[in-house]
Amino acid sequence: MSLVQAAIAGATGYSGEELVRLLIRHPGVELACVTSRTDAGRAIGEVFPRFQGQKYADLKFSGSDPAIIAASGARVAFLALPHGAAAPFARALLEAGVRVIDLSADFRIRDAAIYREFYGHDHPAPELLPRSVYGIPELYRAQLHGANLVASAGCYPTSIILPLHPLLKAGLLDPASIVATSLSGVSGAGRNVAAEYLYVECNENARPYGVPKHRHLAEIEQELSAAAGRPVVINFAPHLIPVTRGILSTIHAMPRPGVAPCAITAALEAAYGAEPFIRLQGEQGTVELKNVAHTNFLDIAWRHDPRTGRLILMSAEDNLVKGAAGQAIQNLNVMCHWAEATGLSL
Ligand SMILES: NC(=O)c1ccc[n+]([C@@H]2O[C@H](COP(=O)([O-])OP(=O)(O)OC[C@H]3O[C@@H](n4cnc5c(N)ncnc54)[C@H](OP(=O)(O)O)[C@@H]3O)[C@@H](O)[C@H]2O)c1
Repeated sequence: MSLVQAAIAGATGYSGEELVRLLIRHPGVELACVTSRTDAGRAIGEVFPRFQGQKYADLKFSGSDPAIIAASGARVAFLALPHGAAAPFARALLEAGVRVIDLSADFRIRDAAIYREFYGHDHPAPELLPRSVYGIPELYRAQLHGANLVASAGCYPTSIILPLHPLLKAGLLDPASIVATSLSGVSGAGRNVAAEYLYVECNENARPYGVPKHRHLAEIEQELSAAAGRPVVINFAPHLIPVTRGILSTIHAMPRPGVAPCAITAALEAAYGAEPFIRLQGEQGTVELKNVAHTNFLDIAWRHDPRTGRLILMSAEDNLVKGAAGQAIQNLNVMCHWAEATGLSL
């Protein structure tokens, strides 16, 4: 395995820190550059004492500038930046010949008008949208192989799209019947100093937010529509819960008339039975945040409710791993033709 020089832009954020943690033990990656505006000049081990004594502890954060990343020799850059800020980095880095894996929403939505509708500002680099590959390896593995710009999927979308995708693709569900409810740990909001994310506001509390039109609906509906071959619109209610990390989603949908429970199970097993990071817990099993914390697994369980006729899908992931940094590295592994679990096994 030849070493690839990599950079992390926004390496002091929660996703960036998780990328550092995972890349320390990745045998194919050499971290050449980590950026931060506020911590430029400080070493990783100084900003994050947990990394003291480990590889990269002495690597200093540089200023957040794509020219610095390109000059570092990095051949691939992870962008763990806020949406809107990531796109100009991607443009400059691609021009400099650096492959980009963007963890923000900037390149996930193919239609710039829909980006504007959900994110409230014009797309910063619409000319790049046709080049972007949506970064869920289980769905876009072939396109990821030659990609230079990857839009790593969002945390909620990963937990909702993956359980539904094979079922919509096989025409087993009524696409108009889907309702998703998700619970998210507070790290999903990033290292945000807004009062609503303070310990006292979150601890022993739970609250819905972003109802009925959370931003992630744009990519969820885009990918579910692609699976179903027709427009899919869903209800989605995310909730903030007092845990540090993890997303647990419960999805209700009505199977099409005549679809037997065994057809649902067969479709999920056919799609994901051989996937290294999807663990099917079946109709008897369940999903729990503690089972996926700090891992790149997405666990999926399901039930048929004979009283209502509905299918209930349940999924759990770590928002910072399968929902962010782990999935970004899984995308890199596919882009580089490495074994997909490289650097991601427990
Ligand atoms: N948290 C999650 O669970 C999660 C999951 C999936 C995807 N994502 C996405 O990943 C991206 C990063 O999320 P996060 O939660 O890690 O965010 P975060 O904790 O708020 O960190 C953001 C990082 O970007 C830097 N930054 C902020 N504004 C910047 C700007 N205008 N220009 C350059 N650098 C800037 C920050 O450092 P300085 O301020 O020091 O520069 C910091 O290192 C976001 O787009 C988010 O939507 C997050």
